[in-house]
Amino acid sequence: MEKLGLAVFISGSGSNLQALIDACKSPEYPAQIKLVISNRPDAYGLERAQNEAIKAICIDHKKYKTRAEFENALSEELSKHKIDLICLAGFMRILTADFINKWPNKIINTHPALLPKFGGEGMYGEHVHRAVLKAKEKESGASIHFVIPEVDKGQLIAQGTVPVLENDTIESLSARVIAQEHILYPQAVKKIALERLSK
Ligand code: GRF
Repeated sequence: MEKLGLAVFISGSGSNLQALIDACKSPEYPAQIKLVISNRPDAYGLERAQNEAIKAICIDHKKYKTRAEFENALSEELSKHKIDLICLAGFMRILTADFINKWPNKIINTHPALLPKFGGEGMYGEHVHRAVLKAKEKESGASIHFVIPEVDKGQLIAQGTVPVLENDTIESLSARVIAQEHILYPQAVKKIALERLSK
């Protein structure tokens, strides 16, 4: 069966990577992870990939003088592995327009809120959940979207909502949202894979 070749970019724990790894284990799932790239050598996600015998490398941004050199190193690996879709999963570097334009419609991201609300530069990790609680939202959730140079503004692919409860803390809300991301991300990748493989 023909499958869409994925690269997953991480910076940390990689629980969304794990959700994608688990989905790809099903023989009918239309995508396979060919490569995992972390910009941090200590990212636990690298171990998750190695445990599953998936090629995983660190391209440490600190070792490059410029953003362009770092991103050239990323592009080189992507070309080498014939990647069809790049999944950002807790990747904590903002990519430049040059890089994004080199991979048009081939980069997607998961964001832990219901975009277009609570997105943009500085809206990551606990900052997002703090802002959602402060705004007294009744709902939050996860958004999977295409990546364009404007941060968190690309076309939505899928969204899943979760309730915000009265006594929620940043921790309790973030746990509920990330569980939603783990369901949604593999579904969104599947949707894209089926569309692209049928063309
Ligand atoms: C996710 O909530 C993602 O939306 C955000 O960072 C978190 C990554 O978690 N950008 P993990 O590394 O996949 O566990």
